[in-house]
Amino acid sequence: MKIRSQSFFFIFFISIIFNILASPTLQRDALLEFKNEFPFDASDPYAPSEPPLSSWNTSSDHCSWNGVTCDANSSEVISLVLEYTYLNGSLKANTSLLKLQHLQNLTLYSCDLIGEIPFSLGNLSHLKHLNISDNNGLTGEIPSSIGNLSYLSFLDLSHNDLVGKIPSSLGNLSRLTVLDLSDNRLIGEFPSSIGNLNQLTIISCYSNKLNGTLPSSFSNFNKLSYLLLTGNKFSGGDLPLILSNLTSLSYLDISVNHFKSKLPSNMSGLHNLEVFRVNTNSLIGTFPTSLLTIPSLREISLSENQLEGPLEFGNTSSSSSELEVLDLASNNFYGPIPEDISRFPKLEFIDLSNNSFIGPIPRSMPQLVSLKYLDLSYNKLDGQVPSFLWRLHTLTLSHNSFSSFEEDVVNGSDPDLMSSNSFQGLSKVDISSNSLQGSLPGWICKCTSLSFLDLSNNLLSGSIPSCLVNCTASLGYILLRNNSLSGFLPDIFTNATELRSLDVSRNQLSGKLPKSLINCTSMEYLNLKVNKFKDTFPSWLGSLGSLSVMFLGSNAFYGPISSHFGFPSLRIIDISHNNFNGTLPQDYFVNWPEMSSMVGNEYYELSDGIDTFMSRMGGLSYEDSMDMMYKGVDTEFQQILYVFKAIDFSGNKFTGRIPKSIGLLKELRQVNFSRNEFTGSIPSSLANITNLEALDLSHNKLSGNIPRDLANLSFVSYLDFSHNLLQGPVPRSTQFQRQHCSSFEDNLGLYGLEDICGRSQTPGDTQESEEFSPEESEEVLNWIAAGIAFGPGVFCGLVIGYIFFTSHKHQFFTEKFGRNGIKTVR
Ligand SMILES: *[C@@H]1O[C@H](CO)[C@@H](O)[C@H](O)[C@H]1NC(C)=O
Ligand SMILES: *[C@@H]1O[C@H](CO)[C@@H](O)[C@H](O)[C@H]1NC(C)=O
Ligand SMILES: *[C@@H]1O[C@H](CO)[C@@H](O)[C@H](O)[C@H]1NC(C)=O
Ligand SMILES: *[C@@H]1O[C@H](CO)[C@@H](O)[C@H](O)[C@H]1NC(C)=O
Ligand SMILES: *[C@@H]1O[C@H](CO)[C@@H](O)[C@H](O)[C@H]1NC(C)=O
Ligand SMILES: *[C@@H]1O[C@H](CO)[C@@H](O)[C@H](O)[C@H]1NC(C)=O
Ligand SMILES: *[C@@H]1O[C@H](CO)[C@@H](O)[C@H](O)[C@H]1NC(C)=O
Ligand SMILES: *[C@@H]1O[C@H](CO)[C@@H](O)[C@H](O)[C@H]1NC(C)=O
Ligand SMILES: *[C@@H]1O[C@H](CO)[C@@H](O)[C@H](O)[C@H]1NC(C)=O
Ligand SMILES: *[C@@H]1O[C@H](CO)[C@@H](O)[C@H](O)[C@H]1NC(C)=O
Ligand SMILES: *[C@@H]1O[C@H](CO)[C@@H](O)[C@H](O)[C@H]1NC(C)=O
Ligand SMILES: *[C@@H]1O[C@H](CO)[C@@H](O)[C@H](O)[C@H]1NC(C)=O
Repeated sequence: MKIRSQSFFFIFFISIIFNILASPTLQRDALLEFKNEFPFDASDPYAPSEPPLSSWNTSSDHCSWNGVTCDANSSEVISLVLEYTYLNGSLKANTSLLKLQHLQNLTLYSCDLIGEIPFSLGNLSHLKHLNISDNNGLTGEIPSSIGNLSYLSFLDLSHNDLVGKIPSSLGNLSRLTVLDLSDNRLIGEFPSSIGNLNQLTIISCYSNKLNGTLPSSFSNFNKLSYLLLTGNKFSGGDLPLILSNLTSLSYLDISVNHFKSKLPSNMSGLHNLEVFRVNTNSLIGTFPTSLLTIPSLREISLSENQLEGPLEFGNTSSSSSELEVLDLASNNFYGPIPEDISRFPKLEFIDLSNNSFIGPIPRSMPQLVSLKYLDLSYNKLDGQVPSFLWRLHTLTLSHNSFSSFEEDVVNGSDPDLMSSNSFQGLSKVDISSNSLQGSLPGWICKCTSLSFLDLSNNLLSGSIPSCLVNCTASLGYILLRNNSLSGFLPDIFTNATELRSLDVSRNQLSGKLPKSLINCTSMEYLNLKVNKFKDTFPSWLGSLGSLSVMFLGSNAFYGPISSHFGFPSLRIIDISHNNFNGTLPQDYFVNWPEMSSMVGNEYYELSDGIDTFMSRMGGLSYEDSMDMMYKGVDTEFQQILYVFKAIDFSGNKFTGRIPKSIGLLKELRQVNFSRNEFTGSIPSSLANITNLEALDLSHNKLSGNIPRDLANLSFVSYLDFSHNLLQGPVPRSTQFQRQHCSSFEDNLGLYGLEDICGRSQTPGDTQESEEFSPEESEEVLNWIAAGIAFGPGVFCGLVIGYIFFTSHKHQFFTEKFGRNGIKTVR
């Protein structure tokens, strides 16, 4: 009896406890407590207009509150799903969520949580689905207690700020199907226990700092369908073993890591594979031909690895009929592009750039009717540029040896092609740096959506067709530099309001400038250098508010340059080697705002590997180039940095004094007034151009002393005062002492040159080789670049730039400035 009553009481007691715990009131109160853990401050200007969780009040049953789901019978809360709820606080270790012991589903997505994930969350032992993603303020480590959630099948902690390693206790979650830890700051290796999770279908850990090797236990994931590890630092792992065993894989992205491995020799067992993206690693070996037996395959991205050998598509009958993307750029593949590339009729994107492919473009290629993007640049291809290419969207064939355009297109004798709308999608054409001969092809005039045209560095002759007027409304870039084009620049710019860069330099164009250029209101870059233009100074272009770089050098321009200047954005002007004459008024440089102050867009962003890849996919990563005398050397700049500001008036017939107002152009890096007939003294205001790197006043009739203040120009590395009528002492400063003796020669009476000219002046003089080596120019440009990237201010730029330069030179330079950045031409 006693025993029975005891057990009765015990059972009674248990049932009371049970009832209390399950009691709807307690569940409701726990939710209200949870709400109170996140006080809302309506006076905060960033506060949302409505307080979060306002439906959570006692006027209704808690099971009907937003985000709350109860068990139909017991009214226990089994699911709490909050999305875009402005909680603006942290989950406390004692959070009342822990009282909702029957929770199976907890989702706090984009709820502005801060602080850490409490260890106690591991007590919600019924959880199957846990999603605490997209809370930027959520930091700290992943609590190892998550390994206690043995029912968990879905874990998403992505897009937070989590740090530390992946806890090996995750290996206990044997029911896990989805693991998403992407976009955090996790470090270290995958724990090998992860191999226990053989139910996994999705692993997404992209954009972290994970490293080391992939554990071989990855090969257990025979249900894995998505593997996304892009943007980490993984370096090793037995990829041949792992990949060939992931037979359910449909999406593989391990790009932008440091994998140094071979690929499996046979991947034909990956029956469901659609995306194979392994670009930007250090993979070795040959082209993985076995992939092409997988019928579902849509994308092969192998770019930026060290793969090599000829490209072979194999001779299997089954083939990847769905293949849309073939990206093999920047490897060491060689040999011809196989004719049977046409076996993949859905190809839209082909990038074979930066390899060593030879021979012509395959004749079968027109069968690729879906092709939109083709990049074959930086190879050794030759032969004709076939006509079918004009139906693409983006065409890049630069840096090859193509010799001509296919006849059909040049003569317009392919009626089908010429009458159709097939040109109307073409938006970018880059066939620069080939050996193209003959005249500009007539098809250009059909390309009414063309925005980028680069045929620079070829052997094209004849005139620029005036029918180009049909395309100028869309053209942003017309780059015809360094050909043999002749005749006038046609008057085709009336509607060219998008035109940003016009480069026809190094041709044989003649006559006057077309007046319609005045309508190019977006023009930033105009390069007419080294032609035969014969016109007066185009001061009427001074109203182009964006024009920042103008080259008129080495033409036959003549007459005075007008006293009203305009050109509000100009920062580089080169009018050298023309027949300009007359005097410059003393106040000539008074209103040149861009060169006198640091204004405008100083914002440059460094791109990481992913962005670079994306911009390559987008197809346009163009930089204006230029060549000009830089520190006495004709130099080709592949990119013009924003801080580079220069004037070059050399080689004209200017007379009178150099205007004092030159000192107002404080941002100039380079001033060249050489080879004119300037008289009078050197304006001491030059000393106010504190950033000056190069000053050339040689071959004039300047008299008097060299102003002593010029000794204060601490960045000058190139000075030339030779062939004038100067006299008096040469200023003493490190910069002056470092000059070559010839910089002062042929003057009336300069003295104090003993140190400068007393040194041995052998031809191989170290001073000279130091001064003129391309490395030096590169170095200077590097710190200039770092200056813009990290904020203006010369001193700041110099210091940061120096540190940056010494530690990261190569990587920085290739990332930001492409292959060369700057190279010395002559
Ligand atoms: C969000 O939290 C911050 C810091 O605790 C606080 O200053 C701010 O008032 C809060 N905003 C709202 C709307 O609750
Ligand atoms: C209480 O919640 C209901 C919806 O459930 C809402 O209509 C009402 O405005 C809320 N009351 C308060 C005081 O927030
Ligand atoms: C609710 O109870 C009924 C009868 O007891 C049962 O048939 C049903 O399956 C239960 N529903 C849930 C969701 O547990
Ligand atoms: C929860 O812990 C905090 C300190 O982290 C404390 O201030 C608060 O009173 C505790 N709440 C409860 C209900 O115990
Ligand atoms: C949990 O909630 C999410 C988001 O509403 C939902 O997609 C998922 O199906 C739910 N899972 C379970 C097990 O209730
Ligand atoms: C991985 O990163 C951690 C921490 O950043 C470092 O200590 C470890 O040496 C790295 N391991 C490898 C193999 O690079
Ligand atoms: C590959 O997967 C199979 C099962 O799908 C498994 O039996 C085998 O052990 C795995 N191989 C390796 C090397 O892990
Ligand atoms: C230019 O366009 C006009 C009308 O849009 C058309 O008649 C002419 O044929 C086009 N010129 C060329 C060369 O395509
Ligand atoms: C310029 O554009 C206008 C309006 O779109 C059009 O009417 C005119 O014909 C175009 N002019 C030239 C020269 O193409
Ligand atoms: C500039 O464009 C306007 C229309 O936008 C046109 O009327 C004018 O003639 C054009 N000017 C020149 C010089 O082509
Ligand atoms: C400038 O040159 C032109 C010929 O190009 C000449 O007619 C004119 O007289 C010269 N002016 C001056 C001031 O030398
Ligand atoms: C240099 O600039 C300062 C102030 O900007 C000015 O006072 C001074 O006159 C200038 N010097 C010369 C030589 O123009």
